Amino acid sequence: SDRTNVAIIGMGTVGAGVARLLIDHGDRTARHAGKTIWLSKAVVRDLSKPRGIDLPEGVLTDSIDDVLNDPEIDVVIQLMGGLSPAREVMLRAMEAGKDIVTANKALLAEHGAELFTRARELGRSIAFEAAVAGGIPIIANISQCLSANQIESLEGILNGTSNFIVSQMDEKGAGYDETVKRAQELGYAEADPAMDVDGTDAAQKLAILSHLAFGATVDWRDIPRNGIDGLDPADLVYARQLGYRIKLLATARLVDGELELSVAPTLVAIGTPMAEVRDAFNAIRVVGDAVGPVFYHGLGAGQMPTASAVVADVIDTAVGRTPITFETLEYFSVERPPRTAQRD
Ligand code: NAP
Ligand code: HSE
Repeated sequence: SDRTNVAIIGMGTVGAGVARLLIDHGDRTARHAGKTIWLSKAVVRDLSKPRGIDLPEGVLTDSIDDVLNDPEIDVVIQLMGGLSPAREVMLRAMEAGKDIVTANKALLAEHGAELFTRARELGRSIAFEAAVAGGIPIIANISQCLSANQIESLEGILNGTSNFIVSQMDEKGAGYDETVKRAQELGYAEADPAMDVDGTDAAQKLAILSHLAFGATVDWRDIPRNGIDGLDPADLVYARQLGYRIKLLATARLVDGELELSVAPTLVAIGTPMAEVRDAFNAIRVVGDAVGPVFYHGLGAGQMPTASAVVADVIDTAVGRTPITFETLEYFSVERPPRTAQRD
């Protein structure tokens, strides 16, 4: 067909940004997809809340069934957050023949195996570039662009809210509580900001990246994890006096064939690229055995950077080039052949 009909479930920070890109830049999405991407429905809980965007008549609804029962809708963009009913909605949408795009890393870290298995059984795709590091295309990079490599390590600032809070406290002397509130106002924080500041969100993202980079099935709860919620402002001052900043670093490293994982506030030397990552920016340093070190830097949270990744996934889904298929994931989850295989 010359048109792909999409529905957004969840018109909060990210959903409203996605709607804006689809409606205001339909020419752009059509050029890249080779066909019109049409926003048919946008689901919310509260119809009376302002959304900051003019939606065409009939698009906004409070009924998820309006989407699931509409055979004309091809792609469901799941941006409602949380585990339930998000999980059930994704399963029902795939059973109704729809492909999925989502930014919900908590759901993928918790129920990814079940969802991808079901997607394969049903011949559907799940795209999730926006689930890790917002606007940075790290999922596509690790799973496609660096696929000739054995990844040896990756370390990164994966939670924009924590980095925003630590940056504001360190550079502006801001207080912890007021900065958490500001991160919520700016749309960086999760519905429950405890997930950001206690390291949960970073651990969930690290588990997803570790699956892609190392073929490891990691339960995010098993990752040793400390957040920035226990930081004393004095720690930041002492660190600076010694020539360091404190960053919430998520790290995965192959050591003697074993994967070492952690999320922790870490001293990073001032002047190194990682130490200069500020506000809601994220950064990831990946080391591959062929490419060497590669450094990615960009906005990891917030409305339009996240919407940028979601809409790119929608375009890929519309043209059938979803970067991660179940088969790709399955490849990543089997033990890789020995490096000498070519010489045998
Ligand atoms: P949000 O602002 O809290 O928006 C959630 C939206 O979902 C709201 O519009 C809400 O409706 C709707 N919703 C929730 N439960 C629903 C239900 N049962 N039925 C219908 N609608 C429901 O969240 P967000 O910040 O946009 O985040 C969305 C997802 O993207 C989350 O998984 C988050 O982890 C992920 N993400 C966020 C960012 C970011 O920077 N914010 C970045 C990357 C990934 P009402 O508005 O009517 O309450
Ligand atoms: N709450 C998340 C963060 C959103 O602050 O990084 C992006 O995943």
